[in-house]
Amino acid sequence: MSTVLKNGYLDRTSPLEARLASLLAELTVQEKISLCAGQSFWQTKSVPRLGIKPFKMTDGPRGVAFHSSWKRCTAFPSGIAQAASWDEPLMARFGEALADECKSVGAQTILAPAINITRTPLNGRTFEYLSEDPLLNSRLTVPMVKGVQQQGVAACVKHFAVNNQETNRIRVSSEVSERALQEMYLPAFKAAVEQADAWSIMAAYNAVNGIAACENPALLNDILRGEFGFRGFVVSDWFAVRRTSSGAACVKSGLSLEMPGKGSRCKTKPLSAEFAQGDFTEHELDASVSGLLRVMLLTGHLDGDAQADQKQNKENGQRNSGKHQQLAQEMAAGGITLLKNDTGLLPLNSNTHKKICVMGPKLKKKNCLPLWGGSAGVWPPYEVTPLQGLQAQNNNRFEWVKNPADADAVLLFVGLSHRFGQDSEGVDRKHIDLPEKQQRLIKDTLAANPNTVVVLINGGPLAMPWIEEVPAVLECWYPGMEGGTAIAQALFGDSNPSGKLPVSFPKRLQDSPAHQSPRSYPGDREKVHYDEDIFVGYRHFDQQGIEPLFAFGHGLSYTRFEYSDPLISHTDLSGGDCLQVSMQLTNTGERAGAEVVQLYIVDDAHGEQRPPQSLKAFKKVYLQAGEAQLLNFELPTDELRIFCLERQQWHLKAGQYRVRLASSSRDVRLEQGFIITDQQSIKEAL
Ligand code: BGC
Repeated sequence: MSTVLKNGYLDRTSPLEARLASLLAELTVQEKISLCAGQSFWQTKSVPRLGIKPFKMTDGPRGVAFHSSWKRCTAFPSGIAQAASWDEPLMARFGEALADECKSVGAQTILAPAINITRTPLNGRTFEYLSEDPLLNSRLTVPMVKGVQQQGVAACVKHFAVNNQETNRIRVSSEVSERALQEMYLPAFKAAVEQADAWSIMAAYNAVNGIAACENPALLNDILRGEFGFRGFVVSDWFAVRRTSSGAACVKSGLSLEMPGKGSRCKTKPLSAEFAQGDFTEHELDASVSGLLRVMLLTGHLDGDAQADQKQNKENGQRNSGKHQQLAQEMAAGGITLLKNDTGLLPLNSNTHKKICVMGPKLKKKNCLPLWGGSAGVWPPYEVTPLQGLQAQNNNRFEWVKNPADADAVLLFVGLSHRFGQDSEGVDRKHIDLPEKQQRLIKDTLAANPNTVVVLINGGPLAMPWIEEVPAVLECWYPGMEGGTAIAQALFGDSNPSGKLPVSFPKRLQDSPAHQSPRSYPGDREKVHYDEDIFVGYRHFDQQGIEPLFAFGHGLSYTRFEYSDPLISHTDLSGGDCLQVSMQLTNTGERAGAEVVQLYIVDDAHGEQRPPQSLKAFKKVYLQAGEAQLLNFELPTDELRIFCLERQQWHLKAGQYRVRLASSSRDVRLEQGFIITDQQSIKEAL
């Protein structure tokens, strides 16, 4: 019998679930328990008897991290820069490249993407995450996860869930309504599982509504496995299990693996004792362990002998290839966001601005170093700084001068770094201002030369009290190892910026939704109350009528785009229908460029308790000068459903709606109205 079963799981031609059943049947309870906690910092235990080798994981979301691979790897732009590109195909290519690099260091899981919602600009990990908007978050996560997993590597989507600040991250409980959970904090995880079949999820440090994420049956069993249909493994964030009540509680809730090392609660000895006491059943153990075993099978980890496999993995994967570095540059270029260009100072024109002065504390700085920023720190073999990029891309077009007063234009590089208290895991920022010294430098430079371009290298919203006096601002984020090249090309006009803000930039911190009271941020050691509910990011600014410094979705171009000919397929729809929206986009300027057309829905049906508008679709379109394209969007009415608190379920409400086609959340170009006449909801409303 056992030979048959053993052959069963080793037989690559057998269906996956049959192989899994065979493997589970082969494993003793002790062996299954031993798989519930890691062997060392980055890998699981082995079961040599059955040929189960250690399963390896490595950070992180902007490249394979040095601290978890001991290898220098390609440093791609950080999460917020990736998101600023609003470019799904680019995210897919990034996923593929990341998996390739992951394989090359012999790991089977990449601890990425990191997709927590940007709730407060102070979150130290804002640079690492994507966006404040659940739709943008979902749409970028799905191709990235698919890209990774198509290469046979598991993506580990993190941090599940409602892990939106570093202050008290290990102790705090995020107190959040079911509605905000469903509408804001879960959608990207849901999309990653339902649309991309994510093979792994990382359970967060924090608790959600009082129960630690690693032992939260509502989150892990009911929502993740039950509702979303997740079939992979849930790994704890590193050391997150320490705060849980017991190993049994984790296993019962659906946690598969405690990391790192030999575990705290899920160590073999205490977990065996709990099992012997009847604190959890073998069925529950199987449910939790089978996720990991399934992913071992999906990644081909159990096929072939250990050494040959590892060698083959390493040979199959590639890191630091020219192709990956080229992609890193493309991604950096795609995320660069032109925030302001009032006088058309950018791109620099060597006829009118021959003499340039390049200066500022970020000009020669590298941002990619081991653990720099925390677990997302990647150490590449080289990094093109802004200065090196400018020098290499100049081609004798511009003349360098030292004194800003002698220049035709000044390029002033300011921003933050990954040191603690700025853009770094582990600690939140204290404020959203640039360091005082840099603010003074901006003022002094402007006094010497008003033709000053402020070039920002940083990972999240910044206040800009100097904005009125500065003619041009270019947000470059943390652009990775090829950043200097991409920045220089954008400044010199060899490329055209096409990034759009994936987060709102407030004028003042107090304008942000989470900063209405200390209980909503930072909370105390026990609890942080998500009092703003679903009014996160632009939803809050819109509802409160607050003017942001730069709106969600904002980003300028060196060319102009005209929106025309809006057409909607129906003016009257009911549940199950699909609204088709079309429009013409024309590049009316003199340069090629890309525009991100954003589709927002205004939900007049619900009135005040709803955000004035929500992003429901977008398209990034590249057009040559003078070129036009017809764009089509499809919007199933399902996407208009809202989470009804009273009924605790998603619900489509009848009434008036408007569809907006916009260049940013505050730059609406076209608008059309339609009605949902869903008989069911009308009857209920009466
Ligand atoms: C981070 C995770 C990371 C893990 C392993 C934790 O501190 O929150 O994102 O993957 O460490 O480095």
